[in-house]
Amino acid sequence: MRVIIKPDSEQCSQWAADYVAYKINRFHPAPNRPFVLGLPTGSTPLGMYRNLIEQYKAGKISFENVVTFNMDEYIGLPPEHPQSYHYFMKENFFKHINIKPQNIHMLNGMTRDYEKECTDYENAIKKCGGVNLFIGGIGTDGHIAFNEPGSSLSSRTRIKTLRYDTIKSNSRFFDNDLNRVPKTTLTVGVGTITDAEEVMIIATGSNKAEAIRQGVEGAVTHMWPISILQMHQHSIIVCDEEAASSLRAETVKYFKEIENRTLDFPL
Ligand code: PGA
Repeated sequence: MRVIIKPDSEQCSQWAADYVAYKINRFHPAPNRPFVLGLPTGSTPLGMYRNLIEQYKAGKISFENVVTFNMDEYIGLPPEHPQSYHYFMKENFFKHINIKPQNIHMLNGMTRDYEKECTDYENAIKKCGGVNLFIGGIGTDGHIAFNEPGSSLSSRTRIKTLRYDTIKSNSRFFDNDLNRVPKTTLTVGVGTITDAEEVMIIATGSNKAEAIRQGVEGAVTHMWPISILQMHQHSIIVCDEEAASSLRAETVKYFKEIENRTLDFPL
């Protein structure tokens, strides 16, 4: 596991965007060999998306041969609903870049056949040869995508019922009205995420500090789904000083020192 600790959220976003650009450019994607990205929603990745859009506009990166799979979607929200993840992705990223509409994959929260939707999604990922880089945020309880504590660490794409804390936290996007927050979602599983060649999780702010501590220093447990990254061969946590503030001083020193001497990006 790599743990990148940056002074603030802006620098986390910059690092994450630079890393995505570096991975895509180094891959030299082509129509018959696209780069496959797993993407999150939420407030954390917004800075990274803004940064990637700037890099696209500056001609530093192209999404022409990039295929995307989003992590999750609320059940019952149509794509045009301002709080749907379809809408979020279109407004905050897709409409600003040169990605082909047919290369965008998102779970359909309006389906009547959840099982088929989830199986088809897993199959679509397989058909593309798997995800090269899955990017995510984390919840304060250590969830990744909508895999909340207690989720199977080998789970696949499925329907999930949200816990009260997540509904409460997400109510900020629904005028703080808990009743308007969908209670169920379709989400990729923990196993779907960790099947990716590489997983990069971004965490900023002191409310993520405990989840980062558990994920980096704690035992691997389904009660902190983020901790499964310890079993992954290529996982990266990008966090700011606040999110890293509950790590032991020795842990911070170790990861900072390693990064100062890394031969991988940034070169
Ligand atoms: P946030 O959500 O980026 O809005 O904090 C992260 C998550 O719940 O996965």
